[in-house]
Amino acid sequence: MESLSAIAAGTYSLNDDSQDHINDTDNANRHSQTGHELYAASLESILAAAKRIGPLIHRTAVLTSSSIAELSGNRTFFFKCEMFQKGGSFKFRGACNAVYSISDDCIAKGVVTHSSGNHAAALALAARVRGMPAYIVIPKNTPICKLEAVKRYGGVVHLCEPSLISRERTAEAIVSQTGATFIPPYNHGAVISGQGTVALELLDQVPDLDAIVAPISGGGLLSGIVLAAKGINPQIHVIAAEPKGADDVARSKAAGQLLKCENPCTIADGLRASMGEYTWPIVRDLVDGVITVDEEEIVSAMKICYQQLKVVAEPSGAVSLAAVLSPQFTAPSSAWAGAKRVGVVLSGGNVDLEVLWKSFIPPH
Ligand SMILES: Cc1ncc(COP(=O)(O)O)c(C=O)c1O
Repeated sequence: MESLSAIAAGTYSLNDDSQDHINDTDNANRHSQTGHELYAASLESILAAAKRIGPLIHRTAVLTSSSIAELSGNRTFFFKCEMFQKGGSFKFRGACNAVYSISDDCIAKGVVTHSSGNHAAALALAARVRGMPAYIVIPKNTPICKLEAVKRYGGVVHLCEPSLISRERTAEAIVSQTGATFIPPYNHGAVISGQGTVALELLDQVPDLDAIVAPISGGGLLSGIVLAAKGINPQIHVIAAEPKGADDVARSKAAGQLLKCENPCTIADGLRASMGEYTWPIVRDLVDGVITVDEEEIVSAMKICYQQLKVVAEPSGAVSLAAVLSPQFTAPSSAWAGAKRVGVVLSGGNVDLEVLWKSFIPPH
């Protein structure tokens, strides 16, 4: 394993053969030491994930736009385009790391998850790549494009009622019938480690960032990003972006305790979950702040992605852009006024086109 100072100096290699192999799923939530706290993942497990999934994932593009920079006091934004990831979102990273951490003798039994969104499709795709069955429990109110993607990737769909209890019971029944390995969407060491490869890649592409802004729901993405980014550069700021209509992360950080997302109301369908017992401690201790954005700001950010970057971002995927354009970030008195080079994670692009067009038409 490379030393932390080599990593901080930017001399680490994502393909270094000397990195430890960690079987994250066997030790699914094995905690490893980071600073003074025990967390479900670490810079080392993220480097191991990068090595494991590197040949299977896309190294996604980083885009810049001077037109968007002008909207925010001439900061330079580096947009990490995870809509270009396989399956159309960053979720393939975590799903792939979890699936490829499963021991060979469990392959035939398959994997199972319950998810209303991108994790479902990502897990189906990762399982297909490894040649194993994927049983996907999907609430009936899931966007059609996400349901279709699961089917396209060969997932066996089990529809359930749109409640957590129905999702959990359906998944538990499948586990007891098939012996499949349960892979949750975010509250899992291997999933967090896989998502953290977004930040490893971004800092390899743009080493001198002052801050990274990424959307948060259950916190798998942001936990992985903050562990990787602060492991490489302890000075970097890592900021969460979430909808006002699902602002449990802002409320949890303010209260110093994990609060659940009650009755979320937002167009960002990927950001309606609550953090879990493995993601919350990482977010609580390491994430520097939370920016909340309203629905209009989210739709406006989707439009800007389309018009200026020429990319399709789903509502959840555009929340980080909405955050860096909001006064909470751009005001001269903002805590991040000094952040001039900012990584912005556009986390996914899976959106029903009809919903996209409708959201662009203002209500009468
Ligand atoms: C596009 C997109 N962005 C962000 C998130 C939030 O990820 P996490 O639950 O790991 O916080 C999700 C979750 O489904 C998502 O689909």
